[in-house]
This record gives sequence, structure tokens and C-alpha cells, in this order.
Amino acid sequence: METIKIGLIGLGTVGSGVLQMVENNQDKISNITGRQLSVKTIVVRNVAKHRDDVDTSRINLTDNLDDIVNDPEIGIVVEVMGGIHPAKEIITQLLTAKKHVVTANKDLIASAGEELTSIAQQNHCDLMYEASVAGGIPILRTIVNSFSADQILEVKGIVNGTTNYILTQMQQKNWSYADALQKAQELGFAESDPTNDVDGIDAAYKMIILSQFSFGTHLKLNEMKVSGIRHMQLLDVETAASLGYTIKLLGIARRINDGVFAEVGPVLVPADHPLATINNENNAVMVTGQAVGETLFYGPGAGGLPTANSVLSDIVSVTKNIVLGTTGNSFNNYQNQADHVKADE
Ligand code: HSE
Repeated sequence: METIKIGLIGLGTVGSGVLQMVENNQDKISNITGRQLSVKTIVVRNVAKHRDDVDTSRINLTDNLDDIVNDPEIGIVVEVMGGIHPAKEIITQLLTAKKHVVTANKDLIASAGEELTSIAQQNHCDLMYEASVAGGIPILRTIVNSFSADQILEVKGIVNGTTNYILTQMQQKNWSYADALQKAQELGFAESDPTNDVDGIDAAYKMIILSQFSFGTHLKLNEMKVSGIRHMQLLDVETAASLGYTIKLLGIARRINDGVFAEVGPVLVPADHPLATINNENNAVMVTGQAVGETLFYGPGAGGLPTANSVLSDIVSVTKNIVLGTTGNSFNNYQNQADHVKADE
């Protein structure tokens, strides 16, 4: 059976999960796709730090991106290094070199997804990013596939695992904000710099991507009202509980007349509302469609293997596209959705 070679950029929590899943799920993947997958090269900043994490007799561990870009054997590249720069330049270089790219990078997709999608299309490549929103919940695919005929009226939910973990520990265990944040960092939920998590920016990036898929809009961060939980005190949480509420950091995007209203901020959620029951690093996305009404999608929003599962679902989709000769369409389909929305208005 033919093998598709994968390049991996980044070997943190998610990168390690991807490596583990590619190695452990070969049988199922090859049954579905008719191809074996193998990670050939991993690019990291510090090779010495990761030498014990990888079987270097089989996998090339390097700090040189050219080892992936210039390797004609590598067909799919997974970018899990995060951040906008240099990830944007790297993905541009990879797409231009005709590599299909799978990324979990919400900062980048929210800021430059349209531009990168266009570069992918020009090069007949796939650019997929299911893992960029809500970690392990397959929400982008669900919106593209299962809401293709319905008009989405609103998408809202808990889309940051770190802040939900912090709020849960404060509410249930009386931990201080600082202790809960430190634990979230140790567990690998938080970004390497957790500023974006606690200030609501990570959630805002995810809402920008969800709005693209739901409404065909290309919102900018500075067009949204965004606040986080940095100043949350135990007293706030206790007072909310005594009044029958739970504090949750919610992202909300709603179709209003010709436009879309979107914001992120801490909200008092009635204790018996489904979103009040979403705890720890779990996420939940509530999609309301004109025909279907309210739907709720729940699952782990962060963490190595849950996020890796979304990355692998993209790798499998790209592999199927390679086999069928249909690359260059993939998530770009949301552009078609956007066109339908515009045609309706
Ligand atoms: N830092 C992010 C979160 C990771 O806590 O949700 C997943 O995107």
C-alpha cells in the first residue's frame, strides 16, 4: 500500500498527540483511505529538548523548515506551532510548494484565513483547520455539512477550555484565579502565553471562524467587543452562585438584519441552562438554525489527544482528496456558503 508522508511543525501538547495518533491508528486510517500514513520529519525550535520524545531512527527531527519544504516525498504538513508569525509565512511557503496543510492555528486562520485559502486554491492544495475551533468538537465540518441548507441565526457557546477550567475550579473548589490558571498551564490547555486565553482573545478568534462558517462574514478582532476573566474574584463567582447563576465566558455571534453582531465576555448563565453545566476544559457550541432550532455540540475544547483527533480527521479528509484527485476544495467550501448567504440578502 502506498504511504503518504507527513511533516509536523511543532511538538508541544497537540503535536505529540498527532504523532501518537498517526502511529496508533494506522489500521483504521488505511482501511478508510487506502493509504498508510507516516510522520517523516518533525520541525522544532530546539532539537536537543525533544530528542527523547521521538524515535529518531525512523523520524527526522530537525530545526530546519527546508527539510519539509524541499522534500518531494512529504505531501501533507501539520502546523501546530501556533501564533500568527512566522506561522503565516511558513504556511504560505508550504502551500506554494504544493504541500497540503492542516493547522490548529486559530489566531492565524481568524486573521488571515481568507488570504491563505486563496493561496491554497491557486496551488490546488487543501488547507484545513477543524482543530482551530473548540478542540475536539467537530464543529466546522458539522456546520459545513449539516447546516448546508438551513439559515443559521445564532452561534454561541464556551469556546475556550482554559477559562472554563479556571471558572470551574473557582466555582467548585474555591481555588484562586491564579492557582487555577497555573494548573491549566500545567495541563497543557493554556496557550504558551495565556494572555489570549484569559483576555477573551482566543475565544474571539474562534468566534470569527465560527461566524465565517455560519454567516459567510469575515469579522475582524477590532470589530468585536471582547472581554475576559483576568479580574475575576472568588467573591464574584460566589455571589453569582448565591443568586442561582454560573459565570461563563461566552462567545456570541448573531445574524442581525444585514450584518452579524459578535462579542465575547463573561456572562451570568442561569444554573439550569445547558451551558452552565459545561465544566473544566470542555467546550460547547450552540447553533440555532431557522429550520432546525437549537442544537448543542459538546466535548473537550483543549488537550493533546482531543485536539489531535480533529487534526487527524483533517489529515484523513486530505488523504481521501489526494486519492480521489479532488484537493483544493476542502474547507474552501465555506466560501460557497458565504456566496449563498450573500445571494439571499
Ligand atoms: N488555549 C486554548 C483553550 C486551546 O484553552 O481553549 C485550544 O484552542
